[in-house]
Amino acid sequence: MKMTNHFLLVITITTTVLFTETAVAAATYNVDKLGAKPDGKTDSTKAFMAAWSRACGSEKPAIMYVPKGTYMVGGMLFSGPCKNGNVTVQIDGALKAPSNYSVLAKAQSWLLLQHVQGVNIVGGVMDANGAGLWDCKSSGSKNCPDGATTLSIFNSKNVNVYGLTSVNSQMFHIVVNGCRDVRVVGVTVEAPWNSPNTDGIHVQLSTRVTILDSKISTGDDCVSIGPGATNLWIENVGCGPGHGISIGSLGKDFDEQGVKNVTVKRVNFKNTDNGFRIKSWARSSKGFVDGVLFQNAVMTNVQNPIIIDQNYCPSHKNCPKEVSGVKISHVKYQDIHGTSATEVAVKFDCSKKYPCKGIKMQDVNLSFTKQAPASAYCANAGGTCSGVMKPTSCL
Ligand SMILES: *[C@@H]1O[C@H](CO)[C@@H](O)[C@H](O)[C@H]1NC(C)=O
Ligand SMILES: *[C@@H]1O[C@H](CO)[C@@H](O)[C@H](O)[C@H]1NC(C)=O
Ligand SMILES: *[C@@H]1O[C@H](CO)[C@@H](O)[C@H](O)[C@H]1NC(C)=O
Ligand SMILES: *[C@@H]1O[C@H](CO)[C@@H](O)[C@H](O)[C@H]1NC(C)=O
Repeated sequence: MKMTNHFLLVITITTTVLFTETAVAAATYNVDKLGAKPDGKTDSTKAFMAAWSRACGSEKPAIMYVPKGTYMVGGMLFSGPCKNGNVTVQIDGALKAPSNYSVLAKAQSWLLLQHVQGVNIVGGVMDANGAGLWDCKSSGSKNCPDGATTLSIFNSKNVNVYGLTSVNSQMFHIVVNGCRDVRVVGVTVEAPWNSPNTDGIHVQLSTRVTILDSKISTGDDCVSIGPGATNLWIENVGCGPGHGISIGSLGKDFDEQGVKNVTVKRVNFKNTDNGFRIKSWARSSKGFVDGVLFQNAVMTNVQNPIIIDQNYCPSHKNCPKEVSGVKISHVKYQDIHGTSATEVAVKFDCSKKYPCKGIKMQDVNLSFTKQAPASAYCANAGGTCSGVMKPTSCL
């Protein structure tokens, strides 16, 4: 027995050494060697794209390396498929957007990663400097572009984003669309509470996306979950300011994929508009939400800690007489406590045509003020509750 163990140990060590050597031998493409300048003002877009295409075109694992310093870069496309299954984009420095906001806005994504398999984005600060565009939007001018997403990950598999900081995006900070197996870990998002449409992380038409250990302060949703998000896992996230974690808006279109199997746990909401929200348009749709667990959250001064709103119809345009076709079922709220900034801390305003089914609440303790306790409102919602229930359930 002893001999065998020893023998195995030797084999293990040998394998480890070989594996480490392979990792060390990864080809490295440093943006500085391809003409990038860390001076914050020279346009380094071409050098970044050149480093990407070399790393992606390498036959063996490759690293695109961005050293310390500030690099001014415009819209970048990092497209695959790559010739190797492990490209790491290691960013030790900061990326700064061009001062003319139209440059990024035209590109729609500041950095678009698409058709790749096996890419890690590690570190980095991306400051899109969105204030100019937000001002344009808030001035009421009709000539403002929509703006760019800071990091878009489209139609890809097995992508990891570790430790990225995204500041002041023009539109959404991070979007995952059409992907499988994406992990977003240790990310920081920062934008002012009044910056328009600056969602932290948006996920749609994707399966097995995981968002962990992140801190999101922004002007729109902390995390927004769109049609076709399945097997999504969100854990240990801080939200606020912003609009909270939202499934929706769903059901804008008739032909829409459902949202299935979503877990959101250990979230700290501070001064947000919503905590856990599910929102759908009051329009007919094939969309649905089935199987959601909202667990273990602390709410501090949150306007709508728990809310399902199926009557969304902004400006009463294109839907004033319709009801939502989105079917909501099996949503569980467990161990949620803290303070509501409004009296109605729990609101289930479901579709008249397709009432919410199988809502489960367990150990919910939300308070309003010392003088007035919080209340709950239900319309077309069915389910059960157990454990501590404050406000008193209306299910
Ligand atoms: C991919 O490459 C990075 C850096 O070269 C290395 O740290 C990592 O272990 C590799 N991952 C896999 C799955 O080989
Ligand atoms: C800003 O960028 C846009 C799009 O590239 C361009 O059309 C416009 O002329 C630029 N404006 C200035 C002031 O440089
Ligand atoms: C739900 O999604 C999680 C990942 O978020 C996965 O581990 C689990 O197997 C999925 N459950 C079902 C029933 O598909
Ligand atoms: C609910 O929360 C309040 C405030 O944190 C606390 O004082 C109270 O004991 C809790 N109630 C129950 C039943 O846990």
